[in-house]
Amino acid sequence: MPSIVIVGTQWGDEGKGKIVHLLGKEADLIVRYQGGPNAGHTVVFDGKKFVLHLIPAGILIPGKTCVIGNGVVVDPLSFAEEVRLLERRKIRIRGRLFISEQAHLIFPYHKILDVAREEARGGSEKIGTTRKGIGPAYADKVERVGIRLIDYLEPETFPKLLEQNLALKRGAINRTSSVGKIRKEILRQAGSLRPFLKPFARDASRFLNQALDRGRKVIFESAQGTLLDIDFGTYPYVTSSNPIAGAVGAGCGVGPGKIGSVLGIVKAYTTRVGEGPFPTELTDAMGEFLRASGKEFGATTGRARRCGWFDALVVRRAIQVNGISDLALTKLDVLAGVDPIRVCVGYRYGGRRLDHFPNSRRVLDGCEPVYADMPGFGDISKEARRFEDLPGNARKYIRFLEKILGLKFSLISLGRSRDETIRRSARSLWGRGA
Ligand code: GDP
Ligand code: IMO
Ligand code: MG
Repeated sequence: MPSIVIVGTQWGDEGKGKIVHLLGKEADLIVRYQGGPNAGHTVVFDGKKFVLHLIPAGILIPGKTCVIGNGVVVDPLSFAEEVRLLERRKIRIRGRLFISEQAHLIFPYHKILDVAREEARGGSEKIGTTRKGIGPAYADKVERVGIRLIDYLEPETFPKLLEQNLALKRGAINRTSSVGKIRKEILRQAGSLRPFLKPFARDASRFLNQALDRGRKVIFESAQGTLLDIDFGTYPYVTSSNPIAGAVGAGCGVGPGKIGSVLGIVKAYTTRVGEGPFPTELTDAMGEFLRASGKEFGATTGRARRCGWFDALVVRRAIQVNGISDLALTKLDVLAGVDPIRVCVGYRYGGRRLDHFPNSRRVLDGCEPVYADMPGFGDISKEARRFEDLPGNARKYIRFLEKILGLKFSLISLGRSRDETIRRSARSLWGRGA
């Protein structure tokens, strides 16, 4: 089946949006399978900048169909705002964007709970969430009290489920707001949001399987990154879903045999928003340089992203747990002028050398990165389209990363626009059946 899963290999913000915009040209459908409006995928083209939170970045390519799978948590209000914002900017949406009827919804009480839990944790226990209600909405789904789009659309079903939820969360809601106020707000919004959402609702799994069976090319667009995965990330400093490629199955009702290839997006250095361990973090002038040069500020919350050196243990874990078949390197241009460029090739822990990312919180906290230094390079021409067009030391850096990762970069991104990319392999990225 010609399909590509596009996953983040670090802590998110690797440049997934740009790569979706590039490869989406060749696709028929672009599908989100997890996460929610916590994501911020930036796409820049023709001098315009778009930030997508819930809607797949593929919507910016005329004529493509986009799907929000059942594994995504959807905030009806922010979804409506995102649609209207895009429409105001002349992006046609209706008839080419669908949401799974089985997707769970985020309500105002989820955001109240998200903030309350963060505040109760306080200090070093805080996760630094986006405060979009993601954790509480997924918790409700697993607790079996969640409200799906199909439930919301049925006027007979929804009020009963809402009451059940308000009763369960009464204490927590009343601490900062009031159940009466929240009920009124949700019911008032439902009046206008229900007719707005109805045309978007679909049996998305059936729709997708039919498309795949007809040979349509599908991109599965992940949000977040592998180290934010609820199972394989730096738990508990993670998001509440599985961004890894294996979640495509549960997140849109498509069997594993229908996945063609897995493309891992790798930033040429590392960033992280929010709290949690980050062994190669730089809190000095070099960190400031990367933040300024790479414009590393959160696309969803505006927070300054923490910046640090490339960490091979992080990306090697991602290659393994996602089954990554191809890699894309992004933001290489940001490293221009940095000399030396440091690369973490292992950790030192209690006199021992570790080559794999540890699972123990205690071990991770005590890890010191072991660095290899690579010589720096000057400005990279945005016109470079072949590997040979890159400065010698930039090629050296890339070859070194490939050696320690054990996989080659099929794409090398040198700027925000999709044209500013080197496509290296003649081989198709679409995998089996392409
Ligand atoms: P995502 O969440 O993975 O889609 O990544 P974000 O959009 O949050 O962050 C990546 C940022 O880097 C965006 O502002 C992109 O426009 C920008 N970007 C992507 N690729 C490149 C690149 O190769 N060079 C530069 N300088 N910027 C890039
Ligand atoms: P994209 O798709 C970077 C981080 C938050 C926080 C943690 C949990 O743009 O790469 P949550 O609100 O999900 O409960 O927060 O996850 N986080 C992201 N960091 N990029 C993202 O998305 C993120 N989505 C969530 O900062 O540390
Ligand atoms: Mg982002």
